[in-house]
Amino acid sequence: MASSSQLLSLLALLLAVSSSPSLLAVQAAVQYPGDRLTHICVYMHETVSGQHATMLRSVQSPLGSNFMFGTVNVLDNELRDGPDRRSSKLVGRFQGLFVGSGVVSPPGLMTSMNVVFTAGRYNGSTLALLGPVLDFEAPVERSLVGGTGCFRMARGYSVMTSVGNYTKADSVVLVDKIDLYVKIRRQRIITMTAPEKSTPESLFDE
Ligand SMILES: *[C@@H]1O[C@H](CO)[C@@H](O)[C@H](O)[C@H]1NC(C)=O
Ligand SMILES: *[C@@H]1O[C@H](CO)[C@@H](O)[C@H](O)[C@H]1NC(C)=O
Repeated sequence: MASSSQLLSLLALLLAVSSSPSLLAVQAAVQYPGDRLTHICVYMHETVSGQHATMLRSVQSPLGSNFMFGTVNVLDNELRDGPDRRSSKLVGRFQGLFVGSGVVSPPGLMTSMNVVFTAGRYNGSTLALLGPVLDFEAPVERSLVGGTGCFRMARGYSVMTSVGNYTKADSVVLVDKIDLYVKIRRQRIITMTAPEKSTPESLFDE
């Protein structure tokens, strides 16, 4: 629902339009409250070897097996709400690919990842992350370029930090903390071609 202050600003916009007849179309972005930064913390559990590996190299480099440049790697890691497997719950998957994209390596990885929530309050929603790995020892920062479900129009960034490893059966599982900083831009576009035909209510796009 439009608050009275929003209606007032719309009225001001309508007056501005009618007082300048040359202005046939007006486009205005109205910023709504609620554009806050949400912090979501999840833990990525990556099984690096064995039958149940969640990360694998799907394409070797044409330059040879010692080269990272040209490789394509896929992962489908667990996302849990804690670093300890026994006391944490599965909340989603960390799915995507990373490509050896640096001729001089390291650094030189390009990563494209989806955070897919499968439980909890964000179940069914996803976040899209894109970014390089510039230093294999340092935290990895990525741009949060969008989302689906309750994260539509999301923007932000993520920081992934190594927190350790444990052994499961015969495999090593690496654990990384992923801090997601998400902002949802609640932006509406108002387009007016004929202000006199519009009522304030009909200008809201919902
Ligand atoms: C997540 O959502 C799916 C689809 O709505 C549902 O089948 C599933 O039970 C949910 N999982 C949890 C853990 O809530
Ligand atoms: C696992 O953690 C131990 C102790 O911190 C460390 O020495 C080892 O290098 C780690 N292993 C891997 C594969 O990262």
